[in-house]
Amino acid sequence: MNVFVAAHSGLRWIVLILLVVAIVNAVSKKNKNSYTKNDRLINLFAMLMIHIQILLGIVLYLFNHVGLGGRISYSEGWMKNPMYRFFGMEHIIMMVLAMIFVTIGNKKSKTKEFAAQKHGAIITFYLITLILVLAGIPWPFRGLGTGWF
Ligand code: HEM
Repeated sequence: MNVFVAAHSGLRWIVLILLVVAIVNAVSKKNKNSYTKNDRLINLFAMLMIHIQILLGIVLYLFNHVGLGGRISYSEGWMKNPMYRFFGMEHIIMMVLAMIFVTIGNKKSKTKEFAAQKHGAIITFYLITLILVLAGIPWPFRGLGTGWF
């Protein structure tokens, strides 16, 4: 299980970096009239990495209930416990929303007709995704007993 937690924890940085790269790339090319294979791949990798994180998260979720030594419990009063509430609800809702937004953004970047519209879709939807991911990560300063990596 530790391997899954370590992978899930470290991959957050790859997710964040890929999202920022995709957004910066889209902003810098918005006014150039082209949408290349490279652009498509950057946007695809950012989305894929979030999907991988979600899959890892589901594995962790299934094995993380108290009793198996985890951070999740739905026992009486769990909503009043910041850690149970965070991992049992907030983290999941934020990240599933992030997955929906990144997927819609990627889809729109494929279906829109003009390059500027494609880049525009990435900017809007990936920016919302980035905000959701940043807000949904259990950063060490939130007092949930997690680290930076
Ligand atoms: C982009 C999506 C996601 C990111 C970036 C992310 C990031 C993280 C990070 C940084 C941690 C802290 C790990 C540590 O240092 O202990 C964590 C923990 C956890 N995540 Fe996620 N997560 C994502 C999606 C999900 C989803 C969708 C689920 C559940 C379905 C999930 C379930 C968990 C669980 C159960 C833990 C606690 C693991 C433990 O410490 O035992 N995650 N996540």
